[in-house]
Amino acid sequence: MEYELIDFKVRGDERGSLVALEGSSEIPFEIKRVYYIYGTKREVIRGRHSHRKLQQVIFCPQGSCDFILDDGKERQTIHLNRPNCGLYIKSNIWREFTNFSEDCVVMVLASEHYDEADYIRDYDEFKKEVK
Ligand code: TYD
Repeated sequence: MEYELIDFKVRGDERGSLVALEGSSEIPFEIKRVYYIYGTKREVIRGRHSHRKLQQVIFCPQGSCDFILDDGKERQTIHLNRPNCGLYIKSNIWREFTNFSEDCVVMVLASEHYDEADYIRDYDEFKKEVK
């Protein structure tokens, strides 16, 4: 399974913690889009798609959730629960996210603007494309 966990540098002092993320530096691509998800019930399953081209770094600045990754051969669950740990995934990985804590905020940094044509939302079609 191709993915990477990136440990962000934390600049902490008695005032608290600060994490700074720059495109093409801490984040391995130029950031073209940021979106975030919150107020999601624990048992909800989001995602359920893959991308043809998009790269993303995903993290929980608050709370926790599970990321299920599937490359067509195997499935792996990654529990995101640290505000300074990012999950870097490239294209052609089916992803689902669930098990949201009540306070969970999922932040996504994306390499491209939103483009519905980049999505594969049908699992059988995804399996065909990654073969
Ligand atoms: P959706 O793809 O269902 O979100 P998720 O995969 O996280 O469950 O997106 C929900 C709606 O938001 C859908 O109508 C598409 C829209 N959307 C945008 O307009 N811009 C974006 O950057 C994203 C991620 C979604």
